[in-house]
Amino acid sequence: MIRLGVIGYGYWGPQIVRNFHGADGCEVATICDQSTESLRRAKQAYPHIKLTSDPCEVLKSTDIDAIAIVTPVWTHYDLAKAALQHGKHVFVEKPFTSNATQAEELIDLAENKNLRIMVDHTFLFTGAVKKIRQLVDEGTLGKLYYYDSTRVNLGLFQHDVNVIWDLAPHDLSIVDQLIDDKPEVVIATGQKHLNGLEDLAFITIYFSNNIIAHINVNWLSPVKVRTTLIGGEKKMLVWNDLEADEKIKIYDKGVNITNGQGVRELLVSYRSGDMWSPKVEQTEALRAETKYFVDCISARKKPFNDGEAGLRVVRMLEAASQSLQQGGRAVEL
Ligand SMILES: NC(=O)c1ccc[n+]([C@@H]2O[C@H](COP(=O)([O-])OP(=O)(O)OC[C@H]3O[C@@H](n4cnc5c(N)ncnc54)[C@H](O)[C@@H]3O)[C@@H](O)[C@H]2O)c1
Repeated sequence: MIRLGVIGYGYWGPQIVRNFHGADGCEVATICDQSTESLRRAKQAYPHIKLTSDPCEVLKSTDIDAIAIVTPVWTHYDLAKAALQHGKHVFVEKPFTSNATQAEELIDLAENKNLRIMVDHTFLFTGAVKKIRQLVDEGTLGKLYYYDSTRVNLGLFQHDVNVIWDLAPHDLSIVDQLIDDKPEVVIATGQKHLNGLEDLAFITIYFSNNIIAHINVNWLSPVKVRTTLIGGEKKMLVWNDLEADEKIKIYDKGVNITNGQGVRELLVSYRSGDMWSPKVEQTEALRAETKYFVDCISARKKPFNDGEAGLRVVRMLEAASQSLQQGGRAVEL
């Protein structure tokens, strides 16, 4: 039985507690939050779980094996470092850290102490992303051309990070998972309108082998959109995450270009065949992810969404921030 302490019970913390609480082989021993209002909500939902406002009580407890860090990004490094120093495994929210140097230090620390780090890249545990990964692996889409995602809605405005650090980690963790080629160059543009932080941004990532990813993130959209187009040589797909059923539609569409008789004559033929929607597993992503964390710790296994995966995402975020600050300059990774 793994005894878990959870630090941070704001917006996302209750999801984490609910899923770990229901996971086999895991017991949520303590919930910690600095805010009395958060602790009041936790007490109402879980009257039997120990509560504290002091993170040191969780970090130093000899009764706790692992700690879930569900606090704002700028606190992740200090809390994760203290947790590892006290011999605890770490489940930490996305994005892993505020910069790559912090992530590298935590990875080394965990390695030296033989402890696990798992970064909550929730989308990797959704039925949709698992299905898309399967389609890529099986070669259904053929060689990938592009990943083009729109992740926009009204709010939730964050006070400590801009829209890139808030919403783009989802897409960056997905491209990291789906595209085996190396990200080479990042370009980001965006604008601030309300609270001094970029509230909309456009990120372009060039990968080796001519693959390109484009991510549109926006807190100022009148409607919520979660639509991703993925184009491949053989097939193309549309993933609409807001659809209850038929989240993924695969189109047998494409373009063939061949040389005609004249030297400069190109023959372009368009292929437009069937469209179908594969079955997508409906289980809650966090349920699968929390179970996987418990399994990895019990089996002393390194998770695939480990500190290294978190670091790769933070590197792309850092490059995007750098590009944004320099008016969209191309930043090499
Ligand atoms: N994986 C996902 O889909 C997903 C979704 C939402 C948020 N998140 C991530 O979860 C993290 C938290 O986001 P949120 O929206 O819940 O933030 P939030 O501000 O709503 O909640 C954070 C809570 O942490 C508490 N806190 C802060 N510092 C603390 C400390 N040192 N000790 C104890 N408590 C402390 C605050 O009092 C607050 O209640 C962020 O990293 C965010 O990116 C992930």
